[in-house]
Amino acid sequence: MPAIGYVNGKFGPLEEAVVSVEDRGFQFGDGVYEVIRTYGGRPFHLDAHLARLERSAKAIGLALPQSIEAWRGLVEEGLRLAALPESKVYLQVTRGAAPRDHRFPPSTSPTTVMTIRAMHPVEPALRESGVEAATAEDQRWGRCDIKSVNLLPNVLVRQAALERGAFEAILVRDGEVTEGAVSNVMIVRGGIVQTAPEGPRILSGVTRSLVLDLARSLGRVRERAVTVEELYAADEVFLTGTTIEILPVVRIDGRAIGAGVPGAVTKSLYGLFQRLVR
Ligand code: PDD
Repeated sequence: MPAIGYVNGKFGPLEEAVVSVEDRGFQFGDGVYEVIRTYGGRPFHLDAHLARLERSAKAIGLALPQSIEAWRGLVEEGLRLAALPESKVYLQVTRGAAPRDHRFPPSTSPTTVMTIRAMHPVEPALRESGVEAATAEDQRWGRCDIKSVNLLPNVLVRQAALERGAFEAILVRDGEVTEGAVSNVMIVRGGIVQTAPEGPRILSGVTRSLVLDLARSLGRVRERAVTVEELYAADEVFLTGTTIEILPVVRIDGRAIGAGVPGAVTKSLYGLFQRLVR
C-alpha cells in the first residue's frame, strides 16, 4: 500500500480515510499532532515525539486514547503496511466528533488519525546553496509550546514568505526571534550557537534539542532570545526541524547572512547530524 490512512482503529488507503464534519479538529482546531520521519525505515526519536504528543494533549485537557506503548505499535504497523523506503508519519488526536458547542462534549471519544506517506527530503541543491527567509510578526497565541492543529498564523506567514521567494518565515515577537513557521531558528555568532529558550513562545523541537546537544559537543551554546539585529548580524543562521533537518539560511529579508553561503558551524553540525541518523 503506497500511502496509508488510519482513523480510530482502522488502517486503509489514505484516500479512503475520513472523519466527521462534526469533528472538533475540523470545527475548532481542537486537537494536537506530531510529525515523525523514518531513517532506514525506522521512526526517528519516536519516543520524544510521543512524549511531546502526550504533553500537548495534557495541556489542552485531552486524555490520549492510546498508551505510548500502543502508539508505538500503531506506528510500527502503519510503516509495515506502507512498506515505503522512507516515510513521513503524521499523528493527530482531536477531542472527537460532537454537535458544535465550544464546551467540551461530555461523552465523546477522541478521534485518532495517522497518515503515512513517502518522505521527500529537501533537495540537495537547496541544502548546498542555503535558503532565503523572510521575517514576519509573530501573531500566534501564548502557548506555542503546544503542538496544536491551529496553524492558521503559521500557514499565512509561510505563504507570504513563499510569495516573496523565501523558503521560510522567521517569526519575531517584541523584537525577538521566536522560531520559524515550521522550524526552530538558530544563529551562530563568534562560534556560539544561540537560539530562543524553551517556553511558551516556541515549540520545543525534537531536532532543536538534538542539534543543541551536537553543538555543545563542538563548543558553546546559548539558549537566549535572539534579537532581529543579532539575526541580521549573525555569522550563520540555520533552521532545524524533522523534515528539513539542519538547513542553512543565507539571506534574510534580502540581506546576506555572513558570507552569503552556508557557514562552517552549520556544515559541521549537519555532518554530525548525518552520522546520528545513518
Ligand atoms: N513542524 N517549530 C514549529 C512551529 C514547527 O511546526 C516545527 C515542526 C518545529 C520543529 O520541531 P521538530 O524538530 O520537533 O520537528 C518547530 C512540523 C514538521 C510540521 O508542522 O510539519
